Amino acid sequence: MSFTRRILMVGTAMALGIAGAMAQAFPTKPITMIVPFAAGGPTDTIARIVGEHMSRTLGQTVVIENVAGAGGTTGITRAARSAADGYTIMMGHMGTHGAAPGLYPKLAYDPQKDFTPIGLAAGTPIVIVTRKDLPVKDLKEFMEYAKKNEKTINQAHAGSGSVSHITCILLNEMMKVDPTPIPYQGTGPALNDLVSGKVDYMCDQIVSVQGQVAGGGVRGLAIATPSRSPSLPNVPTTLEAGLSMFQVSAWNAVFAPKDIPADVAKKLQDALVKAVTDPATKTKLEGLGGVVPDAQRASPEALATLVKTENDRWVPLLSRKVKQ
Ligand code: MLT
Repeated sequence: MSFTRRILMVGTAMALGIAGAMAQAFPTKPITMIVPFAAGGPTDTIARIVGEHMSRTLGQTVVIENVAGAGGTTGITRAARSAADGYTIMMGHMGTHGAAPGLYPKLAYDPQKDFTPIGLAAGTPIVIVTRKDLPVKDLKEFMEYAKKNEKTINQAHAGSGSVSHITCILLNEMMKVDPTPIPYQGTGPALNDLVSGKVDYMCDQIVSVQGQVAGGGVRGLAIATPSRSPSLPNVPTTLEAGLSMFQVSAWNAVFAPKDIPADVAKKLQDALVKAVTDPATKTKLEGLGGVVPDAQRASPEALATLVKTENDRWVPLLSRKVKQ
């Protein structure tokens, strides 16, 4: 064997050895999980619960970084463009990875091509919530009130393409009401303004509003699922409340940039499954009304299918001009 060939073989072996050792060692430093909305909202809440458990499995802190703006697409764009090494991951959702291409013709990422799916973290049913002193006591009265006061009523949401935006587009169409939209950086701050009576209503994910609805800070008029949530047993379903067509649940899921090393992806995927199937984490998420996936539904394959199905569902529906 020639000297050059021997050197090349040694070099290759060393490179493979180093790559293998790096994957084995991953993670050797904290991991950043980008949350594309303000702190205190549903995505942030789920990221913190799931991230805390993932930290324990991975032996490194999962640091939450809130990068809000443009209905979550600012943070997801930043995360998609970060190094493909597993040290930057993100909590995306039905808006950022399902609906956004239907509202942003120049979206800087393709939800189906530009990510490594890690897995589903939680399903989040939608609740119609109003400020507590809006003069209505149920969904029927709210629909009449909204129609009568269409010129003055306003609706909070977390930016164009966010879950609270797209789901209330459906609700408003069904109610035939065109409210004044009030955009926020996330439904965390929007909920604060709903509690203090600065805005009239919104469509939010249950994990964010459960505490305020249960405590009477805001009024929960209906949950958009076929059956009531055990975490809000007094809130009727939209079917019970007279708007059976309004059925919608959102979801939040972990993604990494595309092309991260397969063994790094596997470590992240295993840590996520461990987090959502952990009894204490599950209890926390379910206590807030989250629907926690089993290991199969939390798999990367199931998430890739979900993103495709959601693009097929939302993009044609939203690809028209909507008031933001
Ligand atoms: C948030 O965390 O603020 C949300 O997920 C916002 C939304 O999409 O409505």
